[in-house]
Amino acid sequence: MTLFNHVRMSILSIPENVAFARVSAAAFASQLEYTINDLEEIKVAVSEAVANAIVHAYGNQADKLVTIEIKLYPNKMEIIVEDSGIGIKDIKRALQPSYTTDPERMGLGFVFMQSFMDSLKVDSSPGKGTKVIMTKSVNSKIMSEQ
Ligand SMILES: Nc1ncnc2c1ncn2[C@@H]1O[C@H](COP(=O)(O)OP(=O)(O)O)[C@@H](O)[C@H]1O
Ligand SMILES: [Mg+2]
Repeated sequence: MTLFNHVRMSILSIPENVAFARVSAAAFASQLEYTINDLEEIKVAVSEAVANAIVHAYGNQADKLVTIEIKLYPNKMEIIVEDSGIGIKDIKRALQPSYTTDPERMGLGFVFMQSFMDSLKVDSSPGKGTKVIMTKSVNSKIMSEQ
């Protein structure tokens, strides 16, 4: 499939950058014919992935980097959110609804990513960081008008 646009950015692991990441990802994605609703879903998925990197991977240390890479193809996008933090020991378990290692949280971030995007893949190992790879297709106009 032809790659027609590509961005890769590294942002500092501070909470203010969650909003920056979600807005810039949606702005980039809007080069494809996503609906407003699709763009809102992309924003939530990106926010959840970036927030996880800041909160869980880096334990809120503010001097780390989170990398966001977005590739646009004619009918889909791929978003990769990567950190070099603590990593995840049991990925299957982390993906379960309501599973969280932080009692202050709800354990629904991965559930949102999974339901709002078409695919979610998590590559991670303890001490080696985490890579969250998500894709979302553009539905044809006919489909989205139904
Ligand atoms: N980037 C990450 N690095 C390390 N652990 C992570 C990362 N993302 C998620 N996790 C782990 O997976 C769990 C589930 O994540 P999530 O579904 O977003 O729920 P929540 O953030 O509410 O805990 C987290 O509690 C954490 O233990
Ligand atoms: Mg989360």
